[in-house]
Amino acid sequence: MSAFSPFNDSNSRDYRGEKKTQMRRNSLSPTPKIKVNKVKAIFRQSTSASLMPHTSAAMTIIVLGASGDLAKKKTYPSLFKLYLSGYLPQQCKIIGYARSNYSDESFREKYKPILEKVGGFASEDKLNEFLSICHYARGKGYDDPEAWEQVNVQACESEKVNVVANRVFYFAVPPDVFAAAGAAIKAKCMSSKGWNRMIIEKPFGKDSASCSELGERLSRSFNEDELYRIDHYLGKEIVQNIMVLRFGNVLLQPLWNRNYIKSVIINFKEDIGTQGRGGYFDGYGIIRDGK
Ligand SMILES: NC(=O)c1ccc[n+]([C@@H]2O[C@H](COP(=O)([O-])OP(=O)(O)OC[C@H]3O[C@@H](n4cnc5c(N)ncnc54)[C@H](OP(=O)(O)O)[C@@H]3O)[C@@H](O)[C@H]2O)c1
Repeated sequence: MSAFSPFNDSNSRDYRGEKKTQMRRNSLSPTPKIKVNKVKAIFRQSTSASLMPHTSAAMTIIVLGASGDLAKKKTYPSLFKLYLSGYLPQQCKIIGYARSNYSDESFREKYKPILEKVGGFASEDKLNEFLSICHYARGKGYDDPEAWEQVNVQACESEKVNVVANRVFYFAVPPDVFAAAGAAIKAKCMSSKGWNRMIIEKPFGKDSASCSELGERLSRSFNEDELYRIDHYLGKEIVQNIMVLRFGNVLLQPLWNRNYIKSVIINFKEDIGTQGRGGYFDGYGIIRDGK
């Protein structure tokens, strides 16, 4: 029996002097089985969307730059998948915000064929249900105070029956818009009865100086715990797997370091072109995009 076996010290005593044999007998009784089932039940409950803590509160998700590439390729498809999995709260409204000219209806028409492709086996009804919680708000700019006031009215309308209402602002816009948009949101569109979260995508500026400036300007409007800086590439499965491969593999773990590796070349191949992102790459550069 291994030195770590719970059975090899049956006659020893615990720190109170009680015999461990008794404790072991207890541990062999049917009780632990019940406990395991209980734990499983609790786990099932805790992972069921209806009991997740955020679901009793209303949530308004505002996607800035809803007319753009990131919103089309990542943000809305991800929101639709969350909806299909039951991870969005019961009372949830999604407001797309941009300068382009859409109505609620024409915005839904734009997104319907896009979401049809990501929904898999989801029924048409589910897609229509999701589209019915998607709305569109147009502003003259991302710092347009009147437009943000209107968004606030729209949000409050659906949040009015809930005691708690949280808001997520997803910045799918170029980084030079972040700070001005943030200031207008802070002035006109924050939830006063729940938390507010600003999600911004990398790149956070072009270099160290512009990154510090952006951070400084955003911190005038928001606390650090309201700001979420993300790089969705880090969530890709292949990137996530690097950590397991590097640290969980007994053959590679001692070898993957500066003593044995001269350089690392990463090829990321996409079967799509820049698809309208030319201006973005021209402005920030493909190398910075990969960082
Ligand atoms: N696309 C990606 O795959 C990707 C990947 C990683 C990170 N990101 C980051 O995500 C953010 C959005 O990227 P994106 O590709 O969606 O950008 P985008 O399509 O160029 O822009 C999004 C929307 O922002 C508005 N916009 C564009 N240029 C503007 C300007 N100069 N001033 C004010 N509004 C402007 C446009 O909407 P309206 O004209 O209708 O207002 C546009 O539809 C950026 O920070 C980008 O760095 C994108």
